[in-house]
Amino acid sequence: MLLFRKDTDAARLYSICVDRNARKKGLGSALVRAAEEAAKERGWRRMTLEVEEGNAEALEFYEFHGFEGAGKLRDYYALGVHGLRMEKRL
Ligand SMILES: CC(C)(COP(=O)(O)OP(=O)(O)OC[C@H]1O[C@@H](n2cnc3c(N)ncnc32)[C@H](O)[C@@H]1OP(=O)(O)O)[C@@H](O)C(=O)NCCC(=O)NCCS
Repeated sequence: MLLFRKDTDAARLYSICVDRNARKKGLGSALVRAAEEAAKERGWRRMTLEVEEGNAEALEFYEFHGFEGAGKLRDYYALGVHGLRMEKRL
């Protein structure tokens, strides 16, 4: 799910999930690339997302796709469960 808002130049990758039995086959990467193309076509220059700090698989996946940490989100998911904002220039 990709969100666009008029008051920013950043598209927000809001939700991405691949069935557990189908992971590590490139499907997640195909979804990210499609989202990036859709954002660029609409003129968006950046993509942002939030990820749980302890979600090592997702962190590695996003770093693989060129996203970088852009700030810690304290208690974002629940008390003591912090998030990380990540960002990529398109
Ligand atoms: C994150 C997610 C969408 C990745 O989907 P995927 O289809 O497995 O991703 P890909 O097969 O395209 O992986 C591309 C690369 O990302 C990295 N990567 C992906 N999953 C990884 C894992 N479990 N462990 C380590 N690296 C991983 C690797 O570098 C991988 O390259 P490789 O396959 O050559 O090793 C999937 O793990 C998922 O649905 N997770 C649960 C939901 C979730 O956490 N979503 C993010 C919420 S913010």
